Amino acid sequence: MAPNASSELKIFSLAEVQQHNTPESLWMIINDKVYDLTKFAMEHPGGEEVLFEQGGQDATEPFNDVGHSSDAREMAEEYVIGRIADDERKSAKAAVGDNSKAVPWSEILLSPTWTNFLIPAGISILVYATYRTASKLLTSF
Ligand code: HEM
Repeated sequence: MAPNASSELKIFSLAEVQQHNTPESLWMIINDKVYDLTKFAMEHPGGEEVLFEQGGQDATEPFNDVGHSSDAREMAEEYVIGRIADDERKSAKAAVGDNSKAVPWSEILLSPTWTNFLIPAGISILVYATYRTASKLLTSF
């Protein structure tokens, strides 16, 4: 749909969105797009309180965490009023093209989830140690 093509959307700064954090003017960011949910809040099946809590903020994570249906995602498109400026986008640096779902490498590398590295590293050390022990045992015969 042309009006929602990212390149044609009105561009907002984070500071601008942050000002709309009340039930009277309720904006939030989901996947780098800006939503005006002032009118939708009352109709939201998950209640208006959860939306008020996210007012003026980036609600991408809470939105995804709920596991919203594809109907909900489609519904959301009705409330898009613009997008976040390129240099302020969360996914700006590493996103390939306009694929805002791509997880930037920097995020993976700097992730506090050390298990990303520790598990493979642990397995490698274990395999190496097993190999060394096995070859020592074999050569000792
Ligand atoms: C444009 C934005 C949003 C739209 C159009 C939307 C729409 C919906 C819809 C249609 C449902 C019913 C269940 C489903 O179809 O998935 C729902 C449930 C819910 N939503 Fe949203 N939602 C939006 C944003 C958010 C945000 C930002 C939160 C953040 C906390 C949130 C939290 C919830 C919760 C907690 C439920 C209830 C889930 C349940 O009962 O299992 N929603 N939403």
